Amino acid sequence: MGQGSRVKRYKDIAGDGGSNIAGQVEAQHDRLRQRLASVHAIVAIVSGKGGVGKSALTANLACCLTLGGWKVGVLDVDLNGPTQAKMLGVRGRRLVVTDGGVEPPGSELGVKVMSMDLLLPEDAAPLTWDTTVQEEAHTWRGAMEANAVREFLADTNWGTLDALLLDLPPGTDRLATIASLAPELAGIVVVTIPSDVSHLVVRRSITVAAQTTAPILGLVENMAGLFPGPDAARMAADAGIPFLGSVPFDPALAVAADRGEAFVALAPERESARALRRIADGIRVTLSPRKA
Ligand SMILES: Nc1ncnc2c1ncn2[C@@H]1O[C@H](COP(=O)(O)OP(=O)(O)O)[C@@H](O)[C@H]1O
Ligand SMILES: [Mg+2]
Repeated sequence: MGQGSRVKRYKDIAGDGGSNIAGQVEAQHDRLRQRLASVHAIVAIVSGKGGVGKSALTANLACCLTLGGWKVGVLDVDLNGPTQAKMLGVRGRRLVVTDGGVEPPGSELGVKVMSMDLLLPEDAAPLTWDTTVQEEAHTWRGAMEANAVREFLADTNWGTLDALLLDLPPGTDRLATIASLAPELAGIVVVTIPSDVSHLVVRRSITVAAQTTAPILGLVENMAGLFPGPDAARMAADAGIPFLGSVPFDPALAVAADRGEAFVALAPERESARALRRIADGIRVTLSPRKA
């Protein structure tokens, strides 16, 4: 895996070349299980829509939970457009590899971050999935993404965590892959903004989320007040899922995200920071009790 990497295809290794693929897969599944055994709750932040603030919410909720005393990790599942290293201020940190796996860098508050951004050299082209023929690109993307995310989950030295937040790329199809990789997914948070266009797409995301075995923790409305859009609480009620709250549109939040600063710690009294805390508290209550 890597920038423009050419992934070996099964026929390239006909007869398995003595590399014991089945054994390797089994070993990786074991590693994944072991690694996640010390993670209390894995939560996916999703939206079919891009640009609604999934990543900013993930980073801020991680900070809120950390300030509340939890040990928190964030895995950036957006492999093509990773933003968590930037938002949590760990961009350019060198990764240290130990026997136990890769040490995730910690943000100023101590949020552990793993992202494709930490693996790619500065200003490198984004990750691409090479395929021999273009028609296969879509299928391969799904399979390669799943592999990359499985590796990130299994090979990162997360240690003991109360919560591991997964920042998903936009797209309704992504959640099914993640749900199959992390069968212990403790919950799904769905994000929308107040526009008909967003609601149209996000309603489908809720349907997909409901088809997984993971509980839907609820819907968050982000960028509230930016447009005179439809009522998110109403959409949540119609879909039969909890409404976790609204985060106002706040330029200060965007500035902090661009600077990699912990907004909720720097400006705890702003309305948007209060809203984020209330949402994090709601999530914390649902995910408790913590493991000892
Ligand atoms: N409540 C908010 N107020 C102001 N800006 C926001 C808010 N939420 C997110 N943003 C900004 O909007 C942009 C898109 O957010 P991002 O989290 O990258 O969206 P997504 O991950 O859904 O694509 C970012 O620049 C982010 O800082
Ligand atoms: Mg994002």
